[in-house]
Amino acid sequence: MTDYVAFGPIKCRVEVTGEIEHAHERLRKWLADLESLDAIVLTFAPDFQVEAIKPKAGRAVAAGHRKGMMTRHTAEHGLDMARQRESGSVVPEQPEPRQDPGKLEIQVAALFPTPVATAQLPEADRINAALKRLILEREAAQASTQHSNLGGWQSTWDFIDWGGPALQAVLKAGEALANRLTTDRQGRPARVEWKINCWANVNRKGHGNEFHTHPGAYWSGVYYVDDGGAGADPSLGGQLEVQDPRGVAPVMYAPLLAFAGPGGQALGAREMLQPRAGMMVMFPSWVQHGVRPYHGDGDRISVAFNLSV
Ligand SMILES: [Fe+2]
Repeated sequence: MTDYVAFGPIKCRVEVTGEIEHAHERLRKWLADLESLDAIVLTFAPDFQVEAIKPKAGRAVAAGHRKGMMTRHTAEHGLDMARQRESGSVVPEQPEPRQDPGKLEIQVAALFPTPVATAQLPEADRINAALKRLILEREAAQASTQHSNLGGWQSTWDFIDWGGPALQAVLKAGEALANRLTTDRQGRPARVEWKINCWANVNRKGHGNEFHTHPGAYWSGVYYVDDGGAGADPSLGGQLEVQDPRGVAPVMYAPLLAFAGPGGQALGAREMLQPRAGMMVMFPSWVQHGVRPYHGDGDRISVAFNLSV
């Protein structure tokens, strides 16, 4: 009989206990969310007074900067009160120690960087005149190969056999640049006997290259023999477009936010490099890259090469 009478309250108590557990989980999640939001707020607004939204004089309920906002303190307080009710003890509330998060010393490590190097070659005028003549002669005699190119002409991979001293000068500079950019796993300079393959490209009005990578290589490089006037007039297009290798998820989630610091504003997006005659660009071969359409009336001529081990 007693069991029968107690059945209702027991069932009710089980349900209430479950509700309390659920409420605890939600409060813990809100607290974690607030920690994350504080970190973002203080990164972009170091002077923001986070403690200003804490309750006054040890009371549990306080108005936040935004009406109806549950502050961290009220959430913690709610959690504490729930715990106290559960254990049957009510402990006097202790004031939190005050600190100014805006004054924290922060160390930021640029983990997993993606190097994209540029260098202007000396004697570029002499090299470019010779390469332009050779490449245009070959274009007139040989059909284009087809890889990532959207229009334009791309040579076969035997460019090293007919590129002469001018191409050798470019490739020597490419190897030197790669050696400067490469270390062993302990950070010591590494000398690598690079295997090279290279080819020539000619883009004219409307031509570009779709996004691609260069599998099977460590470094990839491009050297601009002729920028087709785009170096002086960026409206002519033909930029080298490099995608953030970490993917687009960050910018899809929070398109108005970026990482503070060098390069952070392109988070999840892309960077454009304007071609300039005589300039070499080098990047890891796994980086997604493409070439924007060229709108000029000239010849946009480049040498592309891969360095593998
Ligand atoms: Fe490429």
